[in-house]
Amino acid sequence: MKSAVILGGKTGLLGQALSLAMTRNGWNVHALGREDLDIFDRPAVEAFLRRTGAEVLFNTVAYTKVDQAEDEPAEAARLNRQLPLLLGQAARTAGVTLVHYSTDFVFNGKKAAPYTTEDQPDPRSVYGRTKLQGERELQALDLPGLLIIRTSWLFGPCRTNFVTRILELAENRPELSVVDDQVGSPSYTPDLAANTLALLDKGATGIFHLANSGQASWCELAAEAVRVADRHCRIKPIHSCEYPQKACRPPYSVLDLSRFTAVTGITPRPWLQALREFLFSREDCLS
Ligand SMILES: NC(=O)c1ccc[n+]([C@@H]2O[C@H](COP(=O)([O-])OP(=O)(O)OC[C@H]3O[C@@H](n4cnc5c(N)ncnc54)[C@H](OP(=O)(O)O)[C@@H]3O)[C@@H](O)[C@H]2O)c1
Repeated sequence: MKSAVILGGKTGLLGQALSLAMTRNGWNVHALGREDLDIFDRPAVEAFLRRTGAEVLFNTVAYTKVDQAEDEPAEAARLNRQLPLLLGQAARTAGVTLVHYSTDFVFNGKKAAPYTTEDQPDPRSVYGRTKLQGERELQALDLPGLLIIRTSWLFGPCRTNFVTRILELAENRPELSVVDDQVGSPSYTPDLAANTLALLDKGATGIFHLANSGQASWCELAAEAVRVADRHCRIKPIHSCEYPQKACRPPYSVLDLSRFTAVTGITPRPWLQALREFLFSREDCLS
């Protein structure tokens, strides 16, 4: 049986979806939370990888609080830059493949067509900058088998996210104002997990963009979630300037998925189809 270690696999939005998908695919999964291993202790990480006989190490741990990162740049850098570097070194020593996740926030959002893996990053936030630094630290290691997956706008089961939050708010409010001038690629975590496995199956290495197909503004995503879930709440489009946030976000960060499709032969399904599945089926969690 193939074995994998998933950092963030116990509590993370993506980590839990990955743990479930891999368990269902017959992998022996070691899904870790904070209390299970000191992930900044490199010898401990290496020993754990050896003990479990893992072939793949997934890193879904990150400093993901985009606005708070502006006030805590050192902590954001510790998780988004130093941790991937340490994990890359540990993966090399233990002889395992590292799969690491990054973000659409590495781009400045000034493009008018989907971002390809060849486009130049130009992050505008502490979160985006530290995530890009993490990518670069890993690339500089020149690890065999390294897979870096940039994804965006995650929604899915097991942890609060934009879609679940909107539905919660829509329970008690007649109207919600949602930003309509930021456009991106919504990503359903079970699809992201399954498509990550498809990349691994093909022995893919390097940087990939991975999301569901299509694009949406936050307002469109919220409106569809409310409509599909049959909540009686009006979604009112507003401009970003009416909802000031500490961190600067890319106004446009749709990801071009063609490299993923070229390697796997898979076109990820449209986000609306995935959203319907999420809201109708309520995909389970491991714990
Ligand atoms: N969410 C999005 O919309 C989005 C968009 C683009 C890219 N991404 C990328 O996708 C990946 C997964 O994101 P996600 O949304 O699944 O993240 P998440 O739900 O915020 O989970 C992050 C995980 O990291 C763990 N973690 C955070 N700080 C830690 C620390 N100091 N020590 C140990 N563990 C710590 C968390 O543990 P606790 O639960 O104990 O806090 C949690 O398991 C990340 O690389 C992220 O940058 C996410």
